[in-house]
Amino acid sequence: MPNNNLAAERQARVAEAMDRLGAIEKTHGGTRTGVDLMRDELLQLAKYKRLFVTSEFEPAKRGTFKDFVAYRLNEEDGSDRALYVSLALPGKSSPPHNHNNWAILVGLEGVEENRLYRADPEQGFQQIDSIEVGPGVGLGLLGDEIHSIHVQGEGDVPVWQLRFYERALELQTDRVQFDESGATTFFPPNQNTKDATVRTEQTNDAVAQS
Ligand SMILES: [Fe+2]
Repeated sequence: MPNNNLAAERQARVAEAMDRLGAIEKTHGGTRTGVDLMRDELLQLAKYKRLFVTSEFEPAKRGTFKDFVAYRLNEEDGSDRALYVSLALPGKSSPPHNHNNWAILVGLEGVEENRLYRADPEQGFQQIDSIEVGPGVGLGLLGDEIHSIHVQGEGDVPVWQLRFYERALELQTDRVQFDESGATTFFPPNQNTKDATVRTEQTNDAVAQS
């Protein structure tokens, strides 16, 4: 059952964070500095783990929706910016891809390895880094940066993150994935998103059916 006090505190913390994130973006835009400052802001929000890692949010059933679900936390305000709490099951991975917008991942519980890549006309396509995104660790990606994800852990214990995107997932219809040669193809976003801004019976039914 929803905990109304928890949901109210979560919405208030999210609203405060969105105000600060908006101020950072207004000053710095989607630059390296701006994205890293927004990542640091979200690391502060992630300290309120008890507001996000709760039984209100259930993982996708194994084998459905690519073992992923994201619950939207912020109200649409005309900016397209979207903050989610995401749950991914161990073993889930994605191919190297970009987002064509900035994206910020911050760990809440469990670990997701992010491999970073460079597509260089002369040096070819190669991995350049690996970051274990877990509690206290965040990663900010610019629109043209390339990553793949590899969810760690055991069994069906989900890995939890806060994810903040320049555009909501359903709007990211121009993402590109890369094969080992660097060749690109269209990479559709995972659209298994649910609205957690208002807890309703309808939302809970939708969760039960996923
Ligand atoms: Fe991604």
